[in-house]
Amino acid sequence: MEKEIILELLEKARSVRKDFEQSLENAYAPYSKFRVGASLLTTDGQIITGCNVENLAYGSTTCAERTSVCKAVSEGYRKFSACLITSLVQFCKVLNIYKLRDLKDWIFPCGNCRTTLEEFGDLTLILSKNEGQETKIMKLSEIHVGSFATMNKLLNK
Ligand code: THU
Repeated sequence: MEKEIILELLEKARSVRKDFEQSLENAYAPYSKFRVGASLLTTDGQIITGCNVENLAYGSTTCAERTSVCKAVSEGYRKFSACLITSLVQFCKVLNIYKLRDLKDWIFPCGNCRTTLEEFGDLTLILSKNEGQETKIMKLSEIHVGSFATMNKLLNK
């Protein structure tokens, strides 16, 4: 995957997650303080972003990846080639200023998001950390083995 496309995906995902210089808008994470942005790349080169949207009833939370899929599909896009994920932890607030830090470890999509993404094919996943200085590229199928969709395809052969 071309470096320029990765950078564009990263910038857009960061813009919905928000970061050190920006205000804490978009990502709605008052409970976990874990701010996530996702950029979904369509096969015709469009980028659709999503952030996490939490809820007091925690189970009603929507992750950034699923927000981006729902936005894209409702705007008429169904063919995707890649999804980039970026996150930041908001760890304290002093004098009305939030302290944020990147995580040392890669953040992988949760089980629900893997299943949602898989519905639209074996996408390329781009994980990022260290404010995008480091990226890891992998296929969804590498981390979503033995999924229901795979099993279903095997059963229907
Ligand atoms: N979250 C995402 O948005 N994407 C992930 O890949 C992992 C988790 C969100 C859900 C919740 O708002 C917060 O991160 C903590 O789990």
